[in-house]
Order: sequence, then C-alpha cells, then structure tokens
Amino acid sequence: MSLRWLRQRRRDPYYRLAKRESYRSRAAYKLKQLQKRFRIIRPGDAVVDLGASPGGWSQVAAELVGPRGRVVAVDRAPFKPLEGVAFVRGDLRDQTTRERALRVMRGGLADCVLSDMSPDLSGNYSIDHARSIELCEAALDFARYCLRPGGSFVAKVFQGAMFGGFLRRAKTLFKVCRAHRPAASRSSSSEMYVICRGFKGRGPGPAPSKVIGGPGGWRGGAERRGGGGSVEPEAWPHTGEEE
Ligand SMILES: C[S@@+](CC[C@H](N)C(=O)[O-])C[C@H]1O[C@@H](n2cnc3c(N)ncnc32)[C@H](O)[C@@H]1O
Repeated sequence: MSLRWLRQRRRDPYYRLAKRESYRSRAAYKLKQLQKRFRIIRPGDAVVDLGASPGGWSQVAAELVGPRGRVVAVDRAPFKPLEGVAFVRGDLRDQTTRERALRVMRGGLADCVLSDMSPDLSGNYSIDHARSIELCEAALDFARYCLRPGGSFVAKVFQGAMFGGFLRRAKTLFKVCRAHRPAASRSSSSEMYVICRGFKGRGPGPAPSKVIGGPGGWRGGAERRGGGGSVEPEAWPHTGEEE
C-alpha cells in the first residue's frame, strides 16, 4: 500500500462512511445501492454471499434478511465471525468448497446468490477481465445448482470482450437480467454488476459438476430433491464457521 493510496482511501467518502457506520468494507454501500434500486433481498430470505471477506456485503445481507433469514458466506480469505452468518472458507472453483457450502445449507435452496468475487489483479486488462469472467461463471453455475426457482443472482464482472457472452448465458437461466454500476463503484474501476431475477430452474442438461468439472459431481441437497423444493431456513446454521 503506497502513501498515495492510503491518502486517497482516507478521502474516499464511502470508506469514511463505512468506518463511521461500522461496516467492514466500503463495498457494503454497493450492495445497499443495488438493494435500493432492485429490491433483491427480502426479510426471511436465505442468501449465499460468494467472495464475502472481509464481510461488508454479509453484514448488509444479514440486516436485510433479519432474524428469520440465513446468510452463508464463502471466501478463500479469512472472515471474522459475524452474527447471523455461517462461513465456509475455500476457493469456489474447488469442488470441495462448493460441497461444503451446500452442506452448510443442508438441502435448503437459496433465495439469492450474491458474488462480489474479484480476481487477484495482474495489471493486464485482458487477463483480469478473463479471470473475472471465470469467477462469474463459477458463481453462476453454483447459483444454478442451489437457487430456488424464482430466485435472484447478482455478480460483479469486470467489463470487457467476454461480458456479452456471460450476460447471454445468464439470460438463458433468468427471466430478467440487468447490468448496473452503483454510485459507490470507484470511477477508476471497470466493474459492473449483473442483476438477474426470476431463476427459471435448473432444467434439463448436465449437472453443474459436469460443467465446471470435478469427479463424482456435487452431492448437495438440491440434487437429492431434483433441484426443486423450497428453502428451509431453520435447516441452516445461523452462526459460526463450518470447518
Ligand atoms: C472485493 S472483495 C469482496 C468484498 C466483500 N463483498 C465485502 O463487502 O467485504 C473480493 C473477494 O473475493 C474473494 N475471492 C476471489 N476469488 C475467489 C474464489 N475463487 N473463491 C472464493 N473467494 C474468492 C477474495 O478473497 C476477496 O475477499
């Protein structure tokens, strides 16, 4: 972290607001702005937060779902315990991480899957864009597996040549897909959020394990239920780390 970067951060209004309002990251305000515009999360919802650390989105999601809802956070980086949020540590591209997240959900389906995952930046625009798309595809495949029909999906994507293809794929799975950039996104960032609503259901075709690899496939509750059924919030542990 350079001195210039630290100075810029101190001047950033969302960084200051996050400090004042005890959010773990300025990113919390991106989810708040997306929620204000699209009403993605409702009280009582079961939410999966992918790329959750340090936890700003999870804090906002836990507030929005309230005591009857559930939040499962997934990240390869550490995550300090947060009331109302169960945490699974691992890389979402690894089958074991996806299986552990599904285990925490104990057969329940999610109302909403969020992904704020960002790749490690190389500084090369095309490489960073391709890595961002890879994370979005992994998030979309996970969502395809664990969302209830009618559910919502939000993902951060770095704009670039492959953005259109990703949006087209999302549109085959959801009734409505929109791209939006919240005011809290930094002007220097190429990030965009894709907001999809009305999940059409997993439908026919290969299970996500076949799409994103891994022998044996996923063994989550949704598979046992044939991808249907409703969320059973009480089946989700409400706090603590899964490991
Ligand atoms: C911008 S931060 C997320 C900030 C978070 N939404 C918040 O409000 O505090 C991006 C996160 O994505 C995570 N991430 C990147 N690639 C990942 C992967 N393959 N699996 C799991 N997490 C990943 C990083 O570890 C990082 O914590």
